[in-house]
Amino acid sequence: MVIKKIAILFSGEGSNLEKLLEKLHNQVFEHCKIEVATTICNRPNALGIEKSRAYGIEPLIIDHTLFENREAFDKALVEAIQNSGAQLTVLAGFMRFLTPYFTQNIKAINLHPSLLPLFKGGNAIEESFASPMKVAGISVHFVSEVLDGGEIIAQQCFEKTEDMRLEDFEVKIHNLEHELLPQTVKNLLNRK
Ligand code: GAR
Repeated sequence: MVIKKIAILFSGEGSNLEKLLEKLHNQVFEHCKIEVATTICNRPNALGIEKSRAYGIEPLIIDHTLFENREAFDKALVEAIQNSGAQLTVLAGFMRFLTPYFTQNIKAINLHPSLLPLFKGGNAIEESFASPMKVAGISVHFVSEVLDGGEIIAQQCFEKTEDMRLEDFEVKIHNLEHELLPQTVKNLLNRK
């Protein structure tokens, strides 16, 4: 059985981290077994830390505030990911801009809460909710040196109805994310 290892990076709540662990960690699929080799968090107080521990994985805390600049932080990230043996890195709510040092050394995918290329950046949910668009959605894309700009792998959309409040809109986005991200990782890895 071929084992395919992934690294998961997160910064906060960790609901997507939890779904990745629940649906993929140590699960056997047709062409491989997927193993979460490491979880990495840049914020020492992130709620996701306990979620990782619940699956027996002690997250590596790499606190970005302790580094001189972005590249020094990214070097530490790259080293940790390479040491873990992960062949794919999944950014699941990882809220840091990444430098070319990271993007040139690590094959990574990112989850983004909008229909890219619309609403790039850190306020995607609010901006997409406030826009006049009648549909909204989520994207998973390869990480490139352009912020939220790498090749799109998968998307899902939904209708934005008149009666939707921001809270309902967010719940809808998170529910879709919890299905699409694990499914996309599985599709990328479960190949001959
Ligand atoms: C998710 O909605 C994800 O799409 C978003 O952060 C949230 C993390 O939630 N990512 C971005 O905005 C990236 N620019 P979680 O910590 O509960 O998984």
